[in-house]
This record gives sequence, C-alpha cells and structure tokens, in this order.
Amino acid sequence: MYVCICHALNDKQVTKALENGARTPASVFRHYERQVQCGKCVPMMRDMVQSHCANQCPSCPSHAAAHHPAPLPEPANAESFPYGIAAE
Ligand code: FES
Repeated sequence: MYVCICHALNDKQVTKALENGARTPASVFRHYERQVQCGKCVPMMRDMVQSHCANQCPSCPSHAAAHHPAPLPEPANAESFPYGIAAE
C-alpha cells in the first residue's frame, strides 16, 4: 500500500526506515533522501511510527523521549507550515 504518493513510498519502505531508526515522518523522508511535499502522508506515517514504537523496549531512545519530552526543535519542513503540516 502506498503511504506517500508524492515519493511513491509504500508501507514496507516506511517500515524499513522505522526499523533502521527513523522515529518521525521527517526522519523517514531523510532516510530516503527526500523532503515532504504535500504532507498528506504525514498523519499516516505518524500512526505507523506510533504503532512501531508501541512495541519498542524501554531502552529505545524514542521511548525515553516520549516519557521525558524535550522542547521541540525547529522542524525541518518549516516551509510546509502554510499548509499546517509538520513532519517532525
Ligand atoms: S503524499 Fe507524501 S509528501 Fe505528498
């Protein structure tokens, strides 16, 4: 199933990026050396990240970050904000 139409990324490719350490939609795009375009795939990618991380062990850095969130850095896709989408 395609997750990102703009870059033809399917669910298997997104899962592979998550298995290799991606923890945000922006990091999935960076994994494939792409940038967010329309942003319509971001909510689905966020759901996939959440599902993936729900099964992670407590030693995962993203698990610790979820329980002790740090201030959010400037998103890499700030130019997409006119559309109300943040991929970080
Ligand atoms: S569908 Fe992913 S950026 Fe457009």
